[in-house]
Amino acid sequence: MSNVYLNGEWLPIEKAQVSVLDRGFIFGDGVYEVIPVYNRKAFALTAHLKRLERSLAGIRLSPPLQDNQWQLIIEQLVKEADTDNSSIYLQITRGVAPRDHAFPLNTPATVFAMAKPMAPVPEAWLQQGIKVVTHEDDRWLHCDLKTTALLANVLLRQYAVDKQAVECLLIREGCVTEGAASNIIVVHQGEVLFPPRNNLILPGITYDLIIDLVTQAGIPFRETTVTREQLANASEVMMTSSTREIVPITDIDGKKVGTGLPGPMFKQLLSLYQSLK
Ligand SMILES: Cc1ncc(COP(=O)(O)O)c(C=O)c1O
Repeated sequence: MSNVYLNGEWLPIEKAQVSVLDRGFIFGDGVYEVIPVYNRKAFALTAHLKRLERSLAGIRLSPPLQDNQWQLIIEQLVKEADTDNSSIYLQITRGVAPRDHAFPLNTPATVFAMAKPMAPVPEAWLQQGIKVVTHEDDRWLHCDLKTTALLANVLLRQYAVDKQAVECLLIREGCVTEGAASNIIVVHQGEVLFPPRNNLILPGITYDLIIDLVTQAGIPFRETTVTREQLANASEVMMTSSTREIVPITDIDGKKVGTGLPGPMFKQLLSLYQSLK
């Protein structure tokens, strides 16, 4: 595996170590980003760096690096990556300090970055769609921040895995929020519905790109709350994320979505998305 970046150093991953007092380890006190790379070119990099800055501001951590410094690190990771398609993982924590909930003073952030091979989305998912299960969204009220405190997401994803499903679709007070590690979009009565960008969902870069695509293509869409009833009557449902792009959901809690096969809107959106890459 290629070298990783840790606090200004480049080293093999086995040698990259952080203290047990790192606040990322102790409190999950940090943020992260995942940036897809196609043919050794980072995709939608500016949007990802902007979201990283927003997440840092959201947890009141000063940006440890400027955009041009991130870009140099990412270029190096992309160049050294074992595969042409990879994902770049960036993580920043509030650094190493004696354990105390309150922020430490004058403590440098821990900055970590690595490249990971990106597996293609399984062909069967695109041809047949995937199965998901629903669960009450029991996460906190700052889901718009991409923080490393992911225990709720971990438990929700495992709930799906235990039920032989690919993703867990989250419902809060009767409305769809997102997936445990994805955004959800729903086709209902001929319109593409996007659960609103608020504190309850991560503002997905893929979600934003798809809003741009449907706008340009003149496809009717709305950013609006999506009720459990609308979900149950949807003709198509999809999940989106940087590493999985757009995946059709054809089974929710054991019930078929629409015809039970990937629909025409999925095919159109996938083809529009592929042309962006
Ligand atoms: C909770 C959650 N929502 C949405 C997304 C999709 O965001 P993006 O399209 O930026 O990858 C992710 C991605 O990991 C996620 O973890």
